Amino acid sequence: MLNLKRLHTLAHGVALPSWAVAYMCEFDFDRIVSRRAVLLGGTAFGVVAFADAVLPPNAEAVPMDFEPVGANQDDTITLPKGYTWHLVASWGDPLWSSGQDFDPTSRGTAESQAMAFGDNNDGMSCFAVDGRIVLAVNNEYTNTKVIWGNRTSNSHENADDVRKGMNAHGVSLMEIRRGDQGWQVVKDSPLNRRITPETPMDVTGPGRAHPLLKTQDDPHGVLVQGTFNNCGNGRTPWGTYLTCEENFHAYFHSPSKADWTPTDMLKRYGLKASNDRYGWATVEKRFDLALEANEPNRHGYIVEIDPADPASRPRKHTAMGRFKHENCEMVVAGDGHIVAYMGDDERGEHLYKFISRKTYHQGMENPSSLLEDGTLYAARFDENGTGTWLPLTPESTGMSPGEICIHTRQAATAVGATTMDRPEWVAANPQAVEAYCCLTNNKDRGQHPNQPVNAVNPRPNNQYGHIVRWIPANGNHSSHGFKWDLFVMAGNPTVHMGAKSGSRAITAENMFNSPDGLAFDSKGRLWIQTDGNDSNKGDFAGMGNNQMLVADTRTSTIRRFMVGPTGCEVTGITWSPDQKTMFVGIQHPGGHFPAGGSRVPRSSVIAIEKPGFLGVGLGAMG
Ligand code: FEO
Ligand code: CA
Ligand code: CA
Ligand code: CA
Repeated sequence: MLNLKRLHTLAHGVALPSWAVAYMCEFDFDRIVSRRAVLLGGTAFGVVAFADAVLPPNAEAVPMDFEPVGANQDDTITLPKGYTWHLVASWGDPLWSSGQDFDPTSRGTAESQAMAFGDNNDGMSCFAVDGRIVLAVNNEYTNTKVIWGNRTSNSHENADDVRKGMNAHGVSLMEIRRGDQGWQVVKDSPLNRRITPETPMDVTGPGRAHPLLKTQDDPHGVLVQGTFNNCGNGRTPWGTYLTCEENFHAYFHSPSKADWTPTDMLKRYGLKASNDRYGWATVEKRFDLALEANEPNRHGYIVEIDPADPASRPRKHTAMGRFKHENCEMVVAGDGHIVAYMGDDERGEHLYKFISRKTYHQGMENPSSLLEDGTLYAARFDENGTGTWLPLTPESTGMSPGEICIHTRQAATAVGATTMDRPEWVAANPQAVEAYCCLTNNKDRGQHPNQPVNAVNPRPNNQYGHIVRWIPANGNHSSHGFKWDLFVMAGNPTVHMGAKSGSRAITAENMFNSPDGLAFDSKGRLWIQTDGNDSNKGDFAGMGNNQMLVADTRTSTIRRFMVGPTGCEVTGITWSPDQKTMFVGIQHPGGHFPAGGSRVPRSSVIAIEKPGFLGVGLGAMG
C-alpha cells in the first residue's frame, strides 16, 4: 500500500498518526469496499466464473429521486417531501371487537393482551389471501418499564402481569384494509390470529423426537409450546410466513436452585441461573432451568406459519438450525433448491445458510416439507475476497444430525466458520444473484481471542457496523463458493478520519450507525434500518435518531429516507401487494410516540405513501 499516509495528508490536510496509517494499510476499507470493480471484472483471484453472477457495470441505476432528510432528534417520523405516514397498529390495539381498547393506565391485562397486537413489533410480511390482505408481524419482546409502567416497581408484581408480558410476545396476524383512514386493522376478520409463547407447534426435522427436546410436558419431543423473541422474518415462495426466534435464552433462569450451572452446550447460548427480566419461571416451571433443562433446546428456531389458515399449527423447523436467529432470507436457487440465509446475532457468532435436499416447483405438494430436510452451512470468509460455505454434517462436525440442528453454534465452530460482527438481516437482490448482511457492531472485535480483526470484520471495537455482500459462484445461490466485498463501512466522517470515518459512500448527509434491518424492494433498491446509538453526541454526533436509508447498490449511493422518533429502533419492512404502500416498524419508541404529549410510548407499524391511493406509490417511485 504505497504512501497512504501522504494521500491522507493531502486529502485532509492533516497527517494521520503512524498507527492509523499502519492500520489502514492493513485494512484499507476503500480497497476492500471497491473490490466490487474487481468482482465485476472477474479477473482478480483467478476466478473468472463469478463475472457471470452480477449485472454488467453499466446496469441502470435504480430510481432514488427523493430529497433526502436530515438527521434529527424529533419525537416523530420524518419523511422526504411528498410522502405521508399513518399508523396501522400499535401495541395493545385489539384485533377483535370483543377485546378492549388500549388502556394507558393499566396498560392492559393478560386477557386483553391475548386479544391485541403484541409489543415491540419487528420483522413483518404482507400476504394476499383470497382477495384479503394479511399483515403478519413479529412481536419480539417487552420493555419492563413500558409494559409494567403502571407498577411503581416497573416490574411484574403478580401472575397476571407476567402473563400479560407473555401474551405481548409472539406473532400478530391481522387482516388490514385501506379505507378513508388509510390502512387499518379489520377487527374480527377470520384471518386474525395471535400466536404466543403458549401456542402449540409441531417440531419437524432431525430435532423431532430427539432426547434433547423431550420434557415432562412433551415426553416425545414433538410438540413445543410457543414461540418468543421473534426478531426478523422471512417468507416462503409458497406464501407462508417465517418467524425467527432470537434471544430465547433471556426467558430462562433457575429460581428453584440458585447455584444451578449450565452445561457447556447451554452456556454457548447464554443460559444462566440469574437471567430474569420477564418472570416466566414464576408462572410456568418449564422456564426454570433446574426443573426442565431441555426446554431451552426447544427454542431458537425458524417457525413457519400459514397466514391463510388460522387453524393451522405452526411448524418449528429444526433442520434450519438453532441459534439466535435474526431473519431468514429465502430464495429459490437457479437449480431449484430452496436456499435460506440466516444470521446469528451475537458478537463472534456466524452466518449460515440452509439448502433443501429436494428442489421446489410451483404448485408442488407440501412444499413446507422442503424445510425439514437439507444441509446447513456456515460461512468462512477468506482474506482474499473469496469464501466457502462449510457444510455442517456428521463427517465435518463429529455430531449427529440431531445434535447439529440443536447445537448448531458448536457445529459451526467445529468446521472453522468465521466469527462475525453480529450478523443481523440478510437480503438477497431480486435483480441479481447476490446477497447482503448487516454486521451491526461488535465491541469485542480485536479484543477477544476468538474474534481477531480480519478482512471481513476489519475494524477493532467496531462501534458503527458495516454491510458485507457476497456473490455466489456460478450465479447460483446453492453453490458452495462465493466472492465477497464490503458494501459499506458505516462511520462518522465529521468527527473521525481513517477507519472510523467509514467508507467512501458515507458522508455527513447520510451517516448512520448499527445497520440492522435490510431488505430489497421489487425495483432492487436496498433499504437499511438502524438500531444504534442515538445519543447524537461524540462518536455519534450528527447521526440523530435511528433511521431508514435506501441504497443503490450499483452506484453505492446511500440516501436517508426516514428518521424515526426519539429512542426508537426502526425495524421491519414490507410492501402492500400493489407495491404502493411501504409498511415500516417503529420498535420501542423512547419518548411519547405515537400519541405525543406525555402519553405512553407504543411500538407501532406505520404505512408510508405518496398522497392519494391511486397516486404514485413507493414501488413506482421515480
Ligand atoms: Fe432482534 Fe438482532 O435483533
Ligand atoms: Ca434486529
Ligand atoms: Ca440490533
Ligand atoms: Ca430490537
